[in-house]
Amino acid sequence: MKVTIDRVRPEHVPSLARICFEAFGTLQERHHVQRDFDSIETAQMVIGMFAGRPDFAGFAAIDHDGTLLGSNFLGFSDCNGDDEGVAGVGPITVAPSAQGRGVGKLLMQAVMNEAARRGISKVRLIQEAINTTSLSLYTKLGFDWRDGISLIQPNPAPTDDPRMSPVTPADLPDIDTISRRHYHAPRVKEVEGFLKMGLPGFMLRSNGKARGYFFTSFLGHGFADTPENLAALVCHTARHAPPHFHKTLLPLSENELHRALLARGCTSVKLLNYMSTGEYRQPQGAWMPCIGM
Ligand SMILES: CC(C)(COP(=O)(O)OP(=O)(O)OC[C@H]1O[C@@H](n2cnc3c(N)ncnc32)[C@H](O)[C@@H]1OP(=O)(O)O)[C@@H](O)C(=O)NCCC(=O)NCCS
Repeated sequence: MKVTIDRVRPEHVPSLARICFEAFGTLQERHHVQRDFDSIETAQMVIGMFAGRPDFAGFAAIDHDGTLLGSNFLGFSDCNGDDEGVAGVGPITVAPSAQGRGVGKLLMQAVMNEAARRGISKVRLIQEAINTTSLSLYTKLGFDWRDGISLIQPNPAPTDDPRMSPVTPADLPDIDTISRRHYHAPRVKEVEGFLKMGLPGFMLRSNGKARGYFFTSFLGHGFADTPENLAALVCHTARHAPPHFHKTLLPLSENELHRALLARGCTSVKLLNYMSTGEYRQPQGAWMPCIGM
C-alpha cells in the first residue's frame, strides 16, 4: 500500500473527523471505556480547529487512490525557535480498516520531522493507556514514559470562592510567571489561544498574589502553589463551565492533589500516560497537563 503524507487541508476535515470519531470510538467501545468524542460533530469541531490554527501543523495520510487514512497534529504555540517551549502531539488517528500497516508510524514521523524542522527538541503527548499499539509506537520513536494520568470528572464547587476570577488578558503576565516557575517553559501563548477560543479558565489570587490558574477540559491545563488551591480552581471552574468542558487530566504522581480532588467529590474516569521526548524537567508544585497542546 503506497501511502503519502500531506498537510491537512480544509476540504480534508469532514473525512478526517469521521476517522477520528471511528478510530477512538472503536477502541474505546472494545475496552468499555468512555468515548473521548461523543459525536462526529465534536470530532469535526476539534479537527477543524486544529487544522485552521497557525500555531498547529496538521498532517494527513493519503492512500494511492486518494482515500484519506488518518491524521496527526503538532501544536507549537510557545515554541519560538529558541528551543525553550514544548510542542504537543495529537490527536493521532488512523481509520480502523487501515491500522497495523505502518500508517500511524508515518504520521508520527511527520510531526517529529516538523518539530525538528522548527528547531523544537521537547515534545509531549498523552497516551491512551488501553492502546498498546500507540504505547509501543511512541516508545519505539523515542518517547519516554513520564507519569500516569487519571482522567478526572470534576465535581462542581457548591458555592463561589471569592479568591477566583475569570482569566482575562490582564492576567497574562502573571500566567507567564506561574507557568515558567512550575513548568520550566512558557505557556502564555497557549493561554492566549484559550482566551480566543472562550475556554473557561480562572485565576486564584489571595493576599494580593497570583497563586495559580486553571483552564478546563482536555485542552486546558493549570498550575497552583498548593494541591488544595489547584483542586479548588478545578471545582470552581466546573461550577462555571458547561458540562462537556468538565473533564481534566491529573498526573498520578500528584498524590496530594489526587486526594484533594477526591475529597471534593471528583471521580476518576480512565487512565492515560504522559510521555515526552527531549529534555524533561518534572513540573513543580501542583500541576495538571493538557491532552497535547
Ligand atoms: C494509534 C494508531 C494511530 C496507530 O496507528 P497504526 O497505523 O495502527 O500503527 P502502525 O502500524 O504504524 O505502528 C504500530 C507499531 O507498533 C507496533 N505494535 C503494535 N502493537 C504492539 C504491541 N502490542 N506490542 C508491541 N508492538 C506493537 C507495531 O509492530 C508497529 O511497529 P513498527 O512500526 O516498528 O512495525 C491507531 O491504532 C489508532 O488510530 N488508534 C485509535 C486512536 C488512538 O488510540 N490514538 C492514539 C491515542 S494515544
